[in-house]
Amino acid sequence: MCSIIGYSGNEVAAPIIVKGLKRMEYRGYDSVGVATESNNQIELKKGIGKVNEVNSKIQLDTLPGKTGIGHTRWATHGKVTEFNAHPHPSNSGKIAIVHNGIIENFEELKKQLENEGYNFKSETDSEIIANLLQKNYESTKNVKETILKTVSEIKGDYAFVAMFENGQLAAARFHEPLIVGIGQENVFLSSDVLGFIEYTDNVIYMKNRNIIILDKKDFQILDFNGKNTEYEITKVSKEFGDVYKGDYAHFTLKEIYEQPDVILKSGEKTIGDIEKAVDYIKNAKNIYITGSGTSYNSALIAKQILSKYVKIKSEPIISSELQFSPEIIERDSVLIAISQSGESADVLEAVRIAKKLNCKIISIVNLLTSSLVRKSDITLGMNCGPEIGVAATKSFTAQLTILYKIVQKLSNNITIDFEKFAESILKIIENPVKIQKIAKELKNVSDIYILGRGINYPIAIESALKLKELTYIHAEGIPGGELKHGPLALMDSNVFVIIINPNDSTYADTLTSAREIKARGAKIIGVSDIESDLYDYWIEIPKIKEILYPISEIIPIQLLSYYSALEKDTDPDYPRNLAKSVTVK
Ligand code: AGP
Repeated sequence: MCSIIGYSGNEVAAPIIVKGLKRMEYRGYDSVGVATESNNQIELKKGIGKVNEVNSKIQLDTLPGKTGIGHTRWATHGKVTEFNAHPHPSNSGKIAIVHNGIIENFEELKKQLENEGYNFKSETDSEIIANLLQKNYESTKNVKETILKTVSEIKGDYAFVAMFENGQLAAARFHEPLIVGIGQENVFLSSDVLGFIEYTDNVIYMKNRNIIILDKKDFQILDFNGKNTEYEITKVSKEFGDVYKGDYAHFTLKEIYEQPDVILKSGEKTIGDIEKAVDYIKNAKNIYITGSGTSYNSALIAKQILSKYVKIKSEPIISSELQFSPEIIERDSVLIAISQSGESADVLEAVRIAKKLNCKIISIVNLLTSSLVRKSDITLGMNCGPEIGVAATKSFTAQLTILYKIVQKLSNNITIDFEKFAESILKIIENPVKIQKIAKELKNVSDIYILGRGINYPIAIESALKLKELTYIHAEGIPGGELKHGPLALMDSNVFVIIINPNDSTYADTLTSAREIKARGAKIIGVSDIESDLYDYWIEIPKIKEILYPISEIIPIQLLSYYSALEKDTDPDYPRNLAKSVTVK
């Protein structure tokens, strides 16, 4: 996923664009670039690295002109090189583009353009858009006709912004987000509201197959047939405005500490119609729950609590797997789609398959302006505020809190005091000294195993994901009972094992596993409300209702992963090779 931004207004564009890119950096940060128009000339700078790094090296924010475009890249086609960075100029240098998404027919178009004398500097699919625009502009001499012709020729999922040397901007949206920010003296075109939120909260969410042609501050929005289309100017919630780290060193740490609040907010005020969702679930022929990464791990928890507490069967499905076995979904069922961003291509594809089978879609989403919301029958908003750190933390807690609320409404003997629970979580994180000490021990470890049984096994998997993402250490979640069926062979004095062992029905068996591991010399970190001399390190969690243990277990492990990342000098907010939302399959 990349971020694209365009600006046209009364102020110098480059500094505003650079600031917007910085706020959207979580979408991808391999390379960054800016192009502006001044006196009918396009000037362009780009480089490898994060926004601040590149800007301090080549002063992106000094480019002249009051119109400009910018981009941060998460590489899909072509390595991380300066040539592959955006913006891409056309051969004539009279047009420049920034693009998010994938052009599926780019090889065919590239060959056609090369045969017509165009040459290419990059390995990217995006660069063909620049030369195709040049070709079409040279034949039509009209920006609108140029864009219409170009979108009729490219295939794939994309959002791009083009800048012409006369200072006009034009953009098109097909399956990738593109939002227009309408300021007093300026207009923004952006992948995300975060790119311009400090300048305006008046936005137009461009629909699929929408084109916008912008000349200074005047604009028209058309469909792909060139017809003017309806659009609505809405206000986004100011909460987007608090996307600052405040006094935290990283967004990831801030978002870990926001979790007691998240439990309260998601517990109190789920946005959407939870009663209707509960009704769908109660009367469903079959229930499938899908997600990717951390959101899939929420689906695993959902399966456990629905069956254990309300005797409702459900089947978790890894979103990226469904396309290879669509037959597992029965017609007229219910699909619960879980996604923080609401833009994960794998989740959207799973929803597309389910809708074709006439399934009802219940989504649990954080970004209420996302594609997933538009494809859902019911959306339950996670209401946990923007999550900038690439590693999912507070969004996982919000997802589980909503699932707990659903179970509470379905059962007549479960009541959860979210207020009291939030307080108990605060106690875990208010003094991280012990966790910081353990993090130092993990610095030179090459393998970490996490053991859990029953509802704690999905937490073992989620813990492994956090550790991998934030520390780059190999980590693996293992069902406790499976240890003796193979993984025990891995146990020796070089490994660390995190034992997730709350005082629930799995406690005794898991303690036995700890004994077996200890006998092989491995170091043990016990996550439990009961101490044991088997643990070399004990992370204490509160004594709470069994259903709530998963959240109380994962939060200290999120902290452990964060502090271990600091020890390993990785970047906790933007882990290498990753992006916050994977909008490509
Ligand atoms: C989790 O820490 C990762 N960042 C990643 O696995 C993430 O959960 C996954 O890409 C799904 O994202 P989504 O919830 O926005 O769909």
